[in-house]
Amino acid sequence: MKHLAVVGASGAVGEVMTRLLEERRFPLASIKFLASERSVGRSVTFRGERYAVELLRAEAFEGVDIVLSSTPASISRTFSPQAACAGAVVVDNSSAFRMDAEVPLVVPEVNPGDVERHRGIIANPNCSTIQMVVALKPLHDRFKIKRVVVSTYQAVSGAGQKGIDELRAQAAALIEGRPLPSPSKFSHAIAFNCVPRIDDFTEGGYTKEEMKMVNETRKIMGDASIAVEPTCVRVPVYNAHSESIMIECERPITPESARAAWVSAPGLRVLDDPSSGVYPVPTEVSGQDDVFVGRIRQALSSDRALSFWCVADNLRKGAATNAVQIAEELIKRDAFATARR
Ligand SMILES: NC(=O)c1ccc[n+]([C@@H]2O[C@H](COP(=O)([O-])OP(=O)(O)OC[C@H]3O[C@@H](n4cnc5c(N)ncnc54)[C@H](OP(=O)(O)O)[C@@H]3O)[C@@H](O)[C@H]2O)c1
Repeated sequence: MKHLAVVGASGAVGEVMTRLLEERRFPLASIKFLASERSVGRSVTFRGERYAVELLRAEAFEGVDIVLSSTPASISRTFSPQAACAGAVVVDNSSAFRMDAEVPLVVPEVNPGDVERHRGIIANPNCSTIQMVVALKPLHDRFKIKRVVVSTYQAVSGAGQKGIDELRAQAAALIEGRPLPSPSKFSHAIAFNCVPRIDDFTEGGYTKEEMKMVNETRKIMGDASIAVEPTCVRVPVYNAHSESIMIECERPITPESARAAWVSAPGLRVLDDPSSGVYPVPTEVSGQDDVFVGRIRQALSSDRALSFWCVADNLRKGAATNAVQIAEELIKRDAFATARR
């Protein structure tokens, strides 16, 4: 039984993390909830008991075995190494350590064994990347993917609680005919709009979010040769990210052979009967842990290319579920004990 701390417990991911630990009956000796001074004084209900939110500080990690951290990258950079130094294994949801060569970047359906390489910190990938690699891995194993062209339709909850609040306030104002509150979390109005920018632009014209999809996909899949061409778009959906994906493979691929590869894939469900209206949509996928694919079709251009649609709950599989699965994997492999020696 482990002593666990949820860091960033008051945030959008932290709140879902807490519910998931209850749902999955995570084996616990004790649990604590940490956040900034803004949340000290608030409480979290867990398994029917109320816990006071404590201030995130180095001393809070004494005696803690596992830290599930969901804070901004700048905060993780300070506190996740402190937690690791105190003897905990940290599963960090931020982008702070993902591309660090010494930090495993893990999606349990794809590279579970990488948890054993940790030196105190394991990174949880970007939400858009997680759902994509769960869908790509079974296809890569059989058809060897050479290139991925992906456009995302990302929910506002991907920008945290403030993102959700901003869509709600703008939508209410527009419907009621009031002046639109100024955008703060997003670069343009998000209500009834699409914004083709998530995070800052890099020199090449791609955004940082897009480059995360390029670099993290290669690291998780263990194949630096995969080319990824992403466009990341924020859309006025509360929760669950959607992706339009086209892959080009080394070997011929058909919708039937892709379905056969996906049928036994862990964490993935095929919802694909378009003429009966069966395909995944964010409002129906929200609240579920699996990654859903549908609209599976042969690409018009090649017998080695396939197009499909992929939807997953970004707060669950894109963040909290994946982090809890990593912690479960650590316990299953006793890789946690190895790290503490
Ligand atoms: N949202 C997603 O879909 C998603 C998916 C994958 C990864 N992530 C990553 O997960 C992390 C959290 O995202 P989120 O969406 O949950 O954000 P959020 O709703 O803004 O929550 C941020 C959390 O971090 C805490 N925090 C902020 N500043 C702090 C400080 N100075 N000291 C201590 N705690 C502090 C906040 O505490 P207070 O409430 O007390 O300020 C809150 O609990 C981010 O790194 C994000 O990139 C998010």
